[in-house]
Amino acid sequence: MNKINTHKSDLIDELKEQSIYKIKLKALLEKIYIDSPPLAYIHSFGCQQNISDAEKIKGFLAEIGYGFTDIQDDSDLIIYNTCAVRENAEARVYGNIGELKHLKAAKENLVIGICGCMAQQQSVADKIKSTYPQVDMVFGTFVFHKLPEMLYNVLAERIRVFDLKEDNHEILEGLSTVREDKIKAYVPVMYGCNNFCTYCIVPYVRGRERSRKPDEIIKEVTQLVKDGYKEITLLGQNVNSYSYGFSGLLRSVNEISGNFRIRFVSSHPKDATKELIDTIIECEKICKHLHLPFQAGSNRILNQMNRKYTIEDYYDIIDYARGKKSDFSFSSDIIVGFPGETFEEFLQTVEVIKKVKFDNLYTFVYSKRSGTKAENLPDNIPQAEKGKWLRELILIQREVVTENFKRFLNKTVTVLVEGEGKTDSTYLTGKNDENIIVEFKGHHSLIGEFVNVKITKIKNWALFGEIINN
Ligand code: SAH
Ligand code: SF4
Ligand code: F3S
Repeated sequence: MNKINTHKSDLIDELKEQSIYKIKLKALLEKIYIDSPPLAYIHSFGCQQNISDAEKIKGFLAEIGYGFTDIQDDSDLIIYNTCAVRENAEARVYGNIGELKHLKAAKENLVIGICGCMAQQQSVADKIKSTYPQVDMVFGTFVFHKLPEMLYNVLAERIRVFDLKEDNHEILEGLSTVREDKIKAYVPVMYGCNNFCTYCIVPYVRGRERSRKPDEIIKEVTQLVKDGYKEITLLGQNVNSYSYGFSGLLRSVNEISGNFRIRFVSSHPKDATKELIDTIIECEKICKHLHLPFQAGSNRILNQMNRKYTIEDYYDIIDYARGKKSDFSFSSDIIVGFPGETFEEFLQTVEVIKKVKFDNLYTFVYSKRSGTKAENLPDNIPQAEKGKWLRELILIQREVVTENFKRFLNKTVTVLVEGEGKTDSTYLTGKNDENIIVEFKGHHSLIGEFVNVKITKIKNWALFGEIINN
């Protein structure tokens, strides 16, 4: 028997076992919660992948009989789905766990679980085990299908559960999902990452790349569109290394009939091809926008980061796209203060920002992650100095954006309406193709619809305008 088959039969056995636990757990819950079903509170930190995982966790819980609440104090099960990408993300979770001590003491059957990327690390599980007795379950990113067993052990056997098993087994298809949103949906196309950028914890907590089969993805998107979803975001840490060919997948998704738009994150520049750009331009449902993180402008730093491209390679992709479509929109992630980065090298990053004119930037100060290669690199720039660089960069980006957004003035853009305006409820808010926030006056009945908006004003990283022809 080959390896995959062994894994598959393991998985089938595991799922059979879980269905038995599901029955036992349901019976137990009916005994404990006689009047009304138990309520779960799930909070996700981190990226879209985590939000997508939480939707599957909710799917499992709904099958067992849990309802959901947004109020932590009202819940019978609290799950924090955590992120490990930077230290401050972890610090926030520890702070929140600390605050749960009183709630746990006050509520006999309250179950507290910590899962996700942070929980996948042994050091974190050890710390929770010894320092936070209020936590009943710690489980990583590979085992949430074992929730019935974990919950049963906590509630019936009164034991604490720690499951960090790392298992790159076949992807579980057909899981029920409770989605957060009715308009926009995340659809994972692949899991894990093989790139080992030297600063990054993701490959250690998410395992190796595994791609979903194209027909599974098409089936899921087709159903979502039938259910009325208007925006589909295909997810992966590096969608361009999707095993069955990402451009082909995009073309197939584009062929699904219905009125919806397609986005995807994230793209690694080393694998972003001209074929990808052509596909985006040729497929009418794909937003003409690419999130393409370059991280740093210096080739020496890119090499130290193990990014496997030079900034010239990066410019090649940008130039190719803008050569075909002059207003092709780009956004990026940037790390400031990688170990050993000099001020001159930081200025090279600034230069890229000024040249490319990104519509949006996600900027981070480098955060040391234990177990990564960069952990032991000498780093002699003080944190405060790095903070200064970051603020400088944000100021420059503000100028770039103000200039950039002028291209929309007096133009009409298509907006998917997402909800009420943040500051004024007579306004509606949504995003245009370029993923830029657009606000305008309009009736609530337009939420979930595409509308045409003529842009009249630019303010604070957003566009403002008036609806036309609706
Ligand atoms: N797979 C995606 C990125 C996922 S993490 C990609 O490669 O594009 C999202 C972003 O977090 C990264 O692009 C990077 O800019 C930032 N990041 C990752 N590790 C970091 C660290 N140790 N310190 C600071 N920022 C980090
Ligand atoms: Fe991290 Fe690099 Fe993988 Fe992105 S591609 S998840 S930055 S290791
Ligand atoms: Fe964080 Fe894990 Fe995503 S580390 S950024 S939640 S893949």
